[in-house]
Amino acid sequence: MHNQGAVKKKMNGYVGFSNFPNQEHRRSIKRGFNFTLMVVGESGLGKSTLINTLFESKVYPTKETEESVGTVRAGVEITSVSADIQENGVKLRLNVVDTPGFGDSINNEDAWRPILENIESRFDAYLAQENRVNRSKIVDNRVNAVLYFIRPTGHGLRAVDIEFMKHLHTRVNLIPVIAKADTLAGREVEGFKARILADINYHGIQIFRPVSDQFDDPETVADNKAIGARIPFAVVGSERVVARADGAAVRGRQYPWGTVEVENEAHNDFVSLRQMLLRTHMEELRDATDVALYEAYRTQKLLALGHVQDNAVFREFNPRAAAEEEERVHGAKMQKLEAEMAAVFRQKVHEKEGKLKLSEEELHARHQQMKAVLEKQRHELEDRRMRLAAPGSASAPPPPPVDHAEQPVQRMPSKD
Ligand code: GTP
Repeated sequence: MHNQGAVKKKMNGYVGFSNFPNQEHRRSIKRGFNFTLMVVGESGLGKSTLINTLFESKVYPTKETEESVGTVRAGVEITSVSADIQENGVKLRLNVVDTPGFGDSINNEDAWRPILENIESRFDAYLAQENRVNRSKIVDNRVNAVLYFIRPTGHGLRAVDIEFMKHLHTRVNLIPVIAKADTLAGREVEGFKARILADINYHGIQIFRPVSDQFDDPETVADNKAIGARIPFAVVGSERVVARADGAAVRGRQYPWGTVEVENEAHNDFVSLRQMLLRTHMEELRDATDVALYEAYRTQKLLALGHVQDNAVFREFNPRAAAEEEERVHGAKMQKLEAEMAAVFRQKVHEKEGKLKLSEEELHARHQQMKAVLEKQRHELEDRRMRLAAPGSASAPPPPPVDHAEQPVQRMPSKD
């Protein structure tokens, strides 16, 4: 698998992440979900097949042969693929992080280390973004769950499994799955599960379990209990549709003795895993990552810093205090800027008012000037009239107006 940008994936069927009435929080519905799932387990345990079966789409390539089983590699690599999938108008940005090489070396003692480092570096990247002034575009690449594939030996956990879970359980939601459960007999599966759980308890490992006591609704409580009872999920994956004995086409694996159906709860726990991961507990996994795992990591990291620094320096390293300080400085800067802008505004208004006043005065002066000119002209005309009207003036005054009323009326002859 290689790193690549998000690709749009077409799903062949209903996956269930859009089943929002059952998802606890609805805020993600509008924005779309971002979910990061890591798969860990040695080569050839069916990791790619299970992911593609879960998401009903070819999220990443699978090998059709068992060639990778038992491949010896030099070390663990971390690769990821992203797929944008959409269902009932709900968008899901799915990031699948693969860890090829895990458990494939001769010595797997430290196989957990690069994976832990990768998970913590994602926390660090988030922490760095949280401390920025502009936190509107935080990219959240934190791993929300790890599907840990247990080899179907039937004997219990191996050292590599225990080491991995012991080192990772405080950093990530661990979901153990028994790979290729169809290779075990039905009776074997129950015994295997009991041994795995005993090992998990013995080593004080925390795995993700759906909580049932916080709900009032008896149906939800029962559903969560039923899912919890199937952990670790014994799963079968298949990208093939095969014919059942009755002729029905089902997703499954065909054997000479019959068909193992992926979505048959009597055959394996695929349905319960899908239910928990995608339909009922996706938000809970995201919340647990944010509120419990990340917070604990952040606090631990800061405490560790505080341990070796004096208090003043520690305050500098305290991201929350640093963020508040940044906010305060930013606020003060904004206030100063606002005050400067107000002063500039006042100055501009003052200048404008001055200009207006000046033009008003000019207008008044011009008006006065005009008035004086007109007054002068009026006086001149008056003088001229007086001169003309005076007796003995060279030119006689105009004759008095004719009073037409005193003239004899000339009648028109009547027509009758
Ligand atoms: P790497 O990419 O090498 O890490 O392998 P992987 O873990 O992704 O395994 P992959 O899904 O490529 O499957 C390896 C082989 O196992 C293929 O031949 C699959 O068809 C087969 N396989 C996958 N899932 C199952 C299963 O549930 N049962 C059985 N019997 N075979 C399976």
